Amino acid sequence: LEDRVVIKLGGSFLSQKSREFSVRKKELDAVCSILGKFGGGMAIVHGGGSFGHPLAKRYGLSSSKVSPTAEGVSETREAMQRLSSIVCDSLQRAGVRTYVLPAVSLLDLKGEEREDIEPLLNIVLSLGLSPLTYGDVSVVKGGFTIVSGDLLSYILCRAIRPSRMVFVIDLPGVLKDTGDPDSLITELEPSGLSRYAGSVKDATGGFAYKLGMAAKIASLGIDTCIVSGFDEDALISSLKGGQFRGTLVKGKR
Ligand SMILES: Nc1ncnc2c1ncn2[C@@H]1O[C@H](COP(=O)(O)OP(=O)(O)OP(=O)(O)O)[C@@H](O)[C@H]1O
Ligand SMILES: [Mg+2]
Repeated sequence: LEDRVVIKLGGSFLSQKSREFSVRKKELDAVCSILGKFGGGMAIVHGGGSFGHPLAKRYGLSSSKVSPTAEGVSETREAMQRLSSIVCDSLQRAGVRTYVLPAVSLLDLKGEEREDIEPLLNIVLSLGLSPLTYGDVSVVKGGFTIVSGDLLSYILCRAIRPSRMVFVIDLPGVLKDTGDPDSLITELEPSGLSRYAGSVKDATGGFAYKLGMAAKIASLGIDTCIVSGFDEDALISSLKGGQFRGTLVKGKR
């Protein structure tokens, strides 16, 4: 059976979070070219970075509530679609052909996965395309809510049962001290993740939420890696299931 991975390109890596609509183009192209050489099946997710989060904040959209009005929904989605087309374009040039699935095509009005996403994803993957989804404003009963790329990563993992999950961020992995890259924690148990959650909160719950999803993915029995997108060797090794500089949460059922 071919090796399958789910990869989430974090907005912290894709963009400089402090500069609205900034894209780290060169670094994105480098990561896409690594993905283009991977060879196995890939489902790809990306986050919002400085495209999604500032707009969500401006309009009071968040993953922890349902907005009963359409205020800011088009604007926020439009920014995410722009970022997504930048990511798709870079992937395409690296030889990765994508099939874009917005969150609403994967989730029902309760925010739970639609019944047939497993065969849907398997058809797309087996015909050689990479499903691509991203943090978005989705429709639920009562209005609109933000769905984070980290949640979508978990949903994809549940549906396609990849060999591993790779979260790409702007730091080397889970750090004891975010100011000190040498304080990297190389391996963690799912239950040990929550103490590194930090306190920065955004429209999707920030790093704490990511670690919660990483714990749930590892609890499916899927090895879960957190690596820096700036460290090409780490990314290549983590995709292949080898030793890498970053944080490994071993899959455990
Ligand atoms: N202990 C920690 N180790 C590593 N990063 C941490 C830690 N605590 C907080 N962080 C922050 O979490 C950030 C990554 O999560 P964040 O949600 O900001 O980015 P992302 O998920 O890549 O972006 P997006 O949500 O747009 O996809 C890092 O840039 C860092 O600032
Ligand atoms: Mg995030």
